[in-house]
Amino acid sequence: MIRLDKLLADAGTGTRSQVKEYIRRGQVMVNGAVCKKPEQKVAEEDLVCLNGQMVGYARFRYYMLHKPQGVVTATEDSRDRTVLDLLTGINTAHISPVGRLDKDTEGLLLLTNDGELAHRLLSPKRHVDKCYLVRTEKPLSETDLRALETGVDIGDEKSTLPAKACLSPDGELLLTIREGRYHQVKRMLQAVGNQVVYLKRLSFGSLRLPEDLEIGQFRPLTKEEQERLQHDVAK
Ligand code: URA
Repeated sequence: MIRLDKLLADAGTGTRSQVKEYIRRGQVMVNGAVCKKPEQKVAEEDLVCLNGQMVGYARFRYYMLHKPQGVVTATEDSRDRTVLDLLTGINTAHISPVGRLDKDTEGLLLLTNDGELAHRLLSPKRHVDKCYLVRTEKPLSETDLRALETGVDIGDEKSTLPAKACLSPDGELLLTIREGRYHQVKRMLQAVGNQVVYLKRLSFGSLRLPEDLEIGQFRPLTKEEQERLQHDVAK
């Protein structure tokens, strides 16, 4: 059993204080009857509706964010805006980013309160692919591409694992790596005598950054996206 206000907040319908207000205003029904008590205990099988819409009890919540540059991948920061600050209008308690993108990197970031899935996605053993669009200071040669693909020395104990590297018609690098080492893409480009001038993550495992998700916007993952992510780490 769970408190009604917690269920509504966990389902992402608003912050705890916002959902208490919805309940007090009579916008919430439990099994067809208006319930004005936020502390009312409900079970998973109870039918809870907010403004006539059914609300499921989702223990785990998953969001994708189109991270802009200038925002830090953290849950709190004394100086900078964080990725969590961009998840407006939902209850962000226990939601954390899965891995990190640098402050000047933009693109796809997954956030969830499902610690087990996050752990598996980040585990070095699982080799979940991440694809980046990279603009470099200087053009890349075939030799550079082969070196990035084979593995380069970035100053760690081991060279990078094999990756996929190809150029788009306008000379941008599409680099798919299976690890997530600190500043990995930037260090890989440095290893071939170049510099990253713009970096964007396009995919993470089976998850793709949708073209219609504007910079700074987020949305919950669909059921299908959630299932595909679980599949990515089931191997
Ligand atoms: N590699 C980097 O260097 N930076 C990122 O933000 C992500 C991958």
